[in-house]
Amino acid sequence: MEPVVEVRGLVNRFGRQLVHDGLDMQVAEDEVFGIVGGSGSGKSVLLRTILGLQRPQAGTVSLRGRDITHLSEAQLRPIKAGYGVAFQAGALYSGLTVLENVQLPMIEHLRLPPTALDGLALLKIRLVGLPEDAAAKYPSQLSGGMVKRAAVARALALDPQLLFLDEPTSGLDPVSASAFDDLVLYLQQHLRLTIVMITHDLDSIFRTCNRVGVIVDRRMETDTLERIVDHPNPWIQAYFHGERARARLGAGHGA
Ligand SMILES: Nc1ncnc2c1ncn2[C@@H]1O[C@H](COP(=O)(O)OP(=O)(O)OP(=O)(O)O)[C@@H](O)[C@H]1O
Ligand SMILES: [Mg+2]
Repeated sequence: MEPVVEVRGLVNRFGRQLVHDGLDMQVAEDEVFGIVGGSGSGKSVLLRTILGLQRPQAGTVSLRGRDITHLSEAQLRPIKAGYGVAFQAGALYSGLTVLENVQLPMIEHLRLPPTALDGLALLKIRLVGLPEDAAAKYPSQLSGGMVKRAAVARALALDPQLLFLDEPTSGLDPVSASAFDDLVLYLQQHLRLTIVMITHDLDSIFRTCNRVGVIVDRRMETDTLERIVDHPNPWIQAYFHGERARARLGAGHGA
C-alpha cells in the first residue's frame, strides 16, 4: 500500500547549519509513528517540511503519493485541509474561546450556518474528552492538559485522516500524559487515523507507537519499537537504555 507520508532524501539547511542531510521517512496507513531525537535534532523542522510550511533545499515530501514539495500556496490549500496538526507551542489563539478555536478551520473551509458550526465544534470538543463547559473558556482558563486536548479538537475540525502532534505530552503530569496517550489510541482505533507524533516521552512511545523514527546524524533510523531499542547507534542506546529508560524497558519487555 502507498505510504501516507513519504520523505525522500530530505536536506534542510539554515545558513551554514545543516539540519537534515538525506533523511528518509515513511509512514503507513493506520499507524502511530513516533519521531524521536535530541533537542535541536530537527524534529519540528521535519514536521514543518512535511506540512508544506517550509521548503527543503533538496529531497521530496509526498502525502498519499502526491509530491507536495513544489506546490504553490493555492495548490497546498486543499492538502493542508486534509491533515490535522497540533503544534508544539502556541497551539490556540488566546483571544478566542475553545469553541471559536475549533471552529476556525471550519469557517475557513466549510460553508455551514452558525448553529451547525456550533454543533460540529461541540462534537469535537466532546470527542477529545473535554467537558462541554470548556467550550466557552479561553485558553488561559484551561489547564495544560486541557489546552493540549483543545488543540487536538481543533486539529480534528475538518475530519482529517492524518494527524500530526508535536510533543503533545510535554509539560503534563504523568497521569494527564497517560490519559492523553489513551486519547491518541482511542482516536487511532475509532477514527482510523494515521498519527505522526513527535515526542520525548518514553512512556508515551511504548504505549502508543507502532514504529519509531529516530533522528541521528541528520538522518532517520526507522524500525519497530521492539527492534529500534537494539539499534547500535550510541544516541539510540542512551535514549532507550539510559538511566531514565531502564525502569520502563524492564517493565515493558519483561527483562
Ligand atoms: N527558521 C529557522 N531559522 C534558523 N534556524 C532554525 C530555524 N528553525 C529551526 N532552526 C534550527 O534548526 C535546528 C532544529 O530545530 P528544531 O526546532 O527542528 O529542533 P527539535 O528537534 O524540534 O528540538 P526540540 O526537541 O527542542 O523541540 C535547531 O538548531 C534550530 O535552531
Ligand atoms: Mg521541536
